Parts: sequence; C-alpha cells; structure tokens
Amino acid sequence: MSIRVRFIVIIGILSMLACVVLAYASYQFSIKNAMDDAKTQGAIVFNMIDSSRMYFKKSQRPLVAELVEDDRFYPEIMSGFVMTRGVWEIFEKRFPGYVFKQATIDPLYPPNKADDDERKLIESFGKNKEMKNTEGVMAKNGKQYYYFARPIEVEGPCLRCHGTPEEAPKDQVEIYGTDHGYDWSKGQVVSTAIVYVPLEKAMKAAKKAATSLFAMGAAGIVILMGVIWFFLSSGVVAPLAKLQEKTTQISLGKELDEEIGIHSKDEIGDLAKAIDRLRISTAKLLKRCAGK
Ligand code: HEC
Repeated sequence: MSIRVRFIVIIGILSMLACVVLAYASYQFSIKNAMDDAKTQGAIVFNMIDSSRMYFKKSQRPLVAELVEDDRFYPEIMSGFVMTRGVWEIFEKRFPGYVFKQATIDPLYPPNKADDDERKLIESFGKNKEMKNTEGVMAKNGKQYYYFARPIEVEGPCLRCHGTPEEAPKDQVEIYGTDHGYDWSKGQVVSTAIVYVPLEKAMKAAKKAATSLFAMGAAGIVILMGVIWFFLSSGVVAPLAKLQEKTTQISLGKELDEEIGIHSKDEIGDLAKAIDRLRISTAKLLKRCAGK
C-alpha cells in the first residue's frame, strides 16, 4: 500500500470514528435535554391540575354541599374529578399532545378505565403507601411519553358516592348507572392521576440533529481527505517519484549534467540536494576514471 493510501485510510477511519462518537454524544445530549424539558413541563401541568382540584376540594365543595339540597347531584359543581376533566378538555385543545387521565381500575366514567400499565402503577401505589408520586418513561401505542403519577386513595366521605349504588345520589346513579365505580373501600388505592408529556417530537428532533451532524462531519471528512490527497500527491509522492527516477538514472551513469530541479525547503528538498551532490560526485568520479 502506498504511503498516500495508507495515510488516507488511517486518517479517514479515525475521523469517521470521531464523527460517529460526536453524533452519538449529540444524540444522547439532546435526549437528556428533551427528558429534562418533559420533566419540567410535566411537573408544571401536573401541579396546576392538582392545585385546581385541591382548591375545589377545600373551598368549593363544602360550600356547594351546603347549598345543594340533599340527594341532588350536579357533577360539574360537585365532583372534583368532573371539574378537572372539564378543565383538561379545554387545556388539551390549546395544547394538543399532552394527556391527563384519572386512570381508575373500576371507574364511574368508563373513559377513566386504567389500561394494563396504569393498573400496574395503581397496584404498586397500593402496595407501597409511602410512595406519594412517581415519574418515568412509558410507551403508549408505540409512542414514548414522560409520565407523572399520583395515587388516589379512598377516604371515608368518598363512599357516599362510591360505596353502593343504593347510598349514592340518585342523579349520579341515573347518569353513570350502577355497574361500575362502586364498592370501593376506605384506604384502598383505586386510581392514579397521571399526566403524559409526549417525547416523540423531541426524540425525532434529536435523531435528526445527530444524523445531520454525522452527515456534515462525513462530508467534511471526504473534502479533507481530498485536500490531503492532493497535497500528498503534489508535495510528497510526485517529488519522490522524480527523485527515484533521477537516482536510477545516476546509478546508470545517465543524465549526470542535469540538475535535479527540486528546491523545496523541506526534507524532500534536502534529499534532492543530497542526491544532487551524489550526481556531481558521480560525474566527477566517472570523468576521472575516463581520464585514466
Ligand atoms: C358527591 C359524589 C362523589 C363523591 C363524594 C366522590 N366522588 Fe369520585 N366521582 C364522582 C363522580 C360522579 C365521578 C365521575 C367523574 C366523571 O364523570 O368524570 C367520580 C369520579 C371519580 C374518579 C375517576 C374515576 C371514575 O370513577 O370515573 C375517582 C378516582 C374518584 N372519583 C375518586 C374519589 C375519591 C377518592 C373521593 C373521596 C376523596 C371521591 N371520588 C368522592 C362522585 C363522587
């Protein structure tokens, strides 16, 4: 393998490796940023929705309970869950992509039914009562989400509506039926309030950024290799070939009157000077021998 090819292959491989490492690092960095962003966004959305429900529970519900006659039930003003669902329906129109769910094992309102992952989460909250919230990455329908979840535990007063259909407000039974959402018991973790922040877009952007970084790096390397090839050819390989040709001629006693003609100020120039001195000495020597 010629010096030029060897040099180009080694430099090429090393630069490509550096390029791959750089693109991978950029991908990891973007993913980490996306994850941090999702965490912050998720925390804000989650706490906002939770705070509005807390306000409802503390300030509105007791007042509403006083004002509304017994046994009547108006979901929009009497259930924090209906209220947060309504708030969320408006929010998600303005900010599509986020998902909020009051995922419940046996809900009154069927769309709140927990899927397999959510059920597992509720069960783990039930087993570990110290766990006040949890977060992480979850795949849903092939898409990645960052989720925030909080357990919902049944307290005594909840049983007025989630105990038995007979005890529940008649209006509620009329709206939601009697098949599901009842027979809950005190202390049971029945549900989780969960916010999903989509990661798909950020992950795609991270992949795209890493790919274009790699493509730009690779293109840069190809151009660099071209430039190195050109300088090696004109600055090293061509003068070396000329020196080899001249040295061969000198060894045959030919072209002894012709100067080598390489005057570069580098190692090749020095070698050319040395060979030129060899040419002059050889010429003198041959002349002396011929004179004898
Ligand atoms: C005055 C009646 C009433 C009381 C009291 C009540 N709920 Fe509900 N709850 C409802 C209704 C009605 C819904 C259906 C919400 C909807 O339509 O989205 C509901 C929904 C829920 C949901 C969402 C899942 C589902 O069933 O659709 C959870 C979880 C829940 N309630 C938990 C509780 C807890 C915990 C308490 C006590 C701290 C409580 N509820 C007290 C009436 C009540």
